Amino acid sequence: MDQTEVLKPQTLQDLIQILHEIFSSDKVNVEEVQTIMESYESNPLDWRQYAKFDQYRYTRNLVDEGNGKFNLMILCWGEGHGSSIHDHADAHCFMKMLEGNLKETLFEWPDEKMKGEMSKKSERILKDNQCAYISDSIGLHRVENSSHTEPAVSLHLYSPPFNSCQTFDQRTGHKSKVKMTFWSTYGVRTPLASTVASQENN
Ligand SMILES: [Fe+2]
Repeated sequence: MDQTEVLKPQTLQDLIQILHEIFSSDKVNVEEVQTIMESYESNPLDWRQYAKFDQYRYTRNLVDEGNGKFNLMILCWGEGHGSSIHDHADAHCFMKMLEGNLKETLFEWPDEKMKGEMSKKSERILKDNQCAYISDSIGLHRVENSSHTEPAVSLHLYSPPFNSCQTFDQRTGHKSKVKMTFWSTYGVRTPLASTVASQENN
C-alpha cells in the first residue's frame, strides 16, 4: 500500500498530527515531509484564524511548536511583499502554498573573497499546494509575492526551530544577522512584534 495515500491529511490539524509523528523520530526524510505537506489540500477554513496580514510587510504567524522538533508557521504576503535574501540557520525549510503564488529565487552563497553582485541560480513560481524545500547546502533564497493584485499565504516548517538567520545584500554579498519574531502566535497577535527589523526575514 502506498504510505502517502494512508497518511493523506484531510485538514491542517491532521497534517500537524502526522508531522508530529514523523518528527518524533530523529531522522528527517525530506521527501516524505515534502510529499505529505503537498498532499494536504489547502482549505482556508483550516487556517484562516492564523492568517494575519500587515499592510507593509509579510508576517510570520506561529501555528505549532512541534514538540520542540520543528516550528510550523503561516506567512502572509500582501501584494508586492517579499523577503530579503536569507539563509536557514542549518535547518530544514519546507514551504507550502496555501493561497496565491510566490516567486522563489535561489542564490549561491557569496564568495567571501569576491565582491559584487550575488549570483542567481534559478527562479520559479510556487503555486497550488506545491511544497518547496531548501537548506543551507542548497543555497540561499528570496521569496516574493510578485502579484500586485492577489495576496499569498504559505505554510512553513523549520526543523530544528531557529529564531535568527542571516540576510544578504544582493549587490555586495554583505551579510547581517537578523532576529525573527512572530506577528501572532496560535492565532493571537503578539504584542511588541511590530518593529520592521524583527519582521525582516523568514
Ligand atoms: Fe526561507
